Amino acid sequence: MINFKEYIHYLNRNRTLVRKRYISLYRTIFRNKSRRILEVGTYNGENALQMIQTAAIHFPVGEIEYFGFDLFELLTDEKLKAEASLRPPCISEVRQKLENTRARITLYQGDTKDILPKIKNKLGQMDFIFIDGGHSVETISSDWNCIKDLLTKKTVVVFDDYYTNASPELNGVGCQNIINNLSRDLYETELLKPMDIFIREWGKLEINFAKVTKKGRKASCNLLSDILISIEPTLQGLVSLAGFLKQLMKKAVKCMFRTVGLEIRKLPKESPEMHRVPEFNSHLWDNNNGFLELYEEIKNHTLVPVERCFMLYQLTKYAGCLKGSIAEVGVYKGGTAKLLAKSFKDKTFHLFDTFSGMPEANQSLDIHKKGDFSDTSLEDVKFFLRDCDYITFHKGLFPETTKPVEEELFCFVYVDVDIYQSVKDCLEFFYSRMVPGGVILFDDYEVRDCSGVKKAINEFFDNRNIRERPILLPTYQCLLVKL
Ligand SMILES: C[S@@+](CC[C@H](N)C(=O)[O-])C[C@H]1O[C@@H](n2cnc3c(N)ncnc32)[C@H](O)[C@@H]1O
Repeated sequence: MINFKEYIHYLNRNRTLVRKRYISLYRTIFRNKSRRILEVGTYNGENALQMIQTAAIHFPVGEIEYFGFDLFELLTDEKLKAEASLRPPCISEVRQKLENTRARITLYQGDTKDILPKIKNKLGQMDFIFIDGGHSVETISSDWNCIKDLLTKKTVVVFDDYYTNASPELNGVGCQNIINNLSRDLYETELLKPMDIFIREWGKLEINFAKVTKKGRKASCNLLSDILISIEPTLQGLVSLAGFLKQLMKKAVKCMFRTVGLEIRKLPKESPEMHRVPEFNSHLWDNNNGFLELYEEIKNHTLVPVERCFMLYQLTKYAGCLKGSIAEVGVYKGGTAKLLAKSFKDKTFHLFDTFSGMPEANQSLDIHKKGDFSDTSLEDVKFFLRDCDYITFHKGLFPETTKPVEEELFCFVYVDVDIYQSVKDCLEFFYSRMVPGGVILFDDYEVRDCSGVKKAINEFFDNRNIRERPILLPTYQCLLVKL
């Protein structure tokens, strides 16, 4: 039996995937009806989440078993470099995220070269195995040598990091040699489509998934899944059309009410999700590997949608060559702060927030109230930004915390504070401290739930005899370039 609700989520997820090669990963789990899943390299748990959700098309989620391996917070800088890895969050954060699915989650922390040989016999046979841990040939070989004992005639193993283009930069990393040297009498191999192509400083990087199964594998007969896979693009089109029609209906109903002077408004949720605006369909960032890697790292720590993050990233390229410090007011969990810290690299970076939630707001202008965004703390943000340099934290109510930076000049300031008084204070403090050509980017300028933002900015420009004008961006942000 197929859970059609999960299946529609699956179609939607595949449609919007940034890394296209993952489509074939989830399709394989779907086709293979996988229930027991093992992943080497759990990282932030995002892929695990999607694998579990895909498995839930065929199984009640409580029956799905996921086994994940990662170093999590034990990853040292040395290993990070040797394994060409990304820095994962801590294990408790990932466990929490995965346990929320209600699947049966087992996480192992440590180097798979040490743990896998010890525990492989206790794991039992797997339906699906994804190998995406350390990227060095040594680690991948060791992972495979343990994992291969868990294969049945039904198991599918997918390796990440099969590089099809040869380059000296790829010596010693990737699974291509391991796959190419597998015994053809024992295993069948296949490169899955599509692959991802990224442009690196040294040239083109082509990353493929390689699928490995035991020779003579008994592929289960799965007529319905096969039909659904063959018509997947058509179904995706229908799902997106249905989404579009739903939006259209909503707009029509809203318009009808407006004609009689009434307005329909969604009540604010407990979590401050109302920030989100619909995502753009065009993905200018699809091939921008520098941005994608950063966004992957921060996306679970930010409320700022991807297209606005991309705008921030673009501006760092511009402002990076100007003299002056940078600042962010409105840090929350540190997502955009990390994007800025890692893009600017060697600039003094000041972060301002209460780190305990919104201050008092003006209820006639702002939808937010005191205490919104309080599910964060200075310690958590410091931990999340532990691999970023040159950061100074200013905890407390802005502008009461500005004393230490009164003498500084700024080339870039990001203001994401959502309420009238805070935006006003930011403009009054930073405007005169911007270097010529320096930029202030305001979030939520044209977002109805944050109308205090627009009011504060417009008043500032209207009441002063200054040459600058606010530049409204299609991302609902607003830019000030100091002349
Ligand atoms: C929308 S959140 C920031 C989102 C964040 N940039 C991200 O990446 O998700 C707004 C933040 O502004 C902070 N804030 C608003 N006004 C403030 C003020 N006057 N002083 C200090 N923090 C303030 C709140 O505490 C909250 O964390």
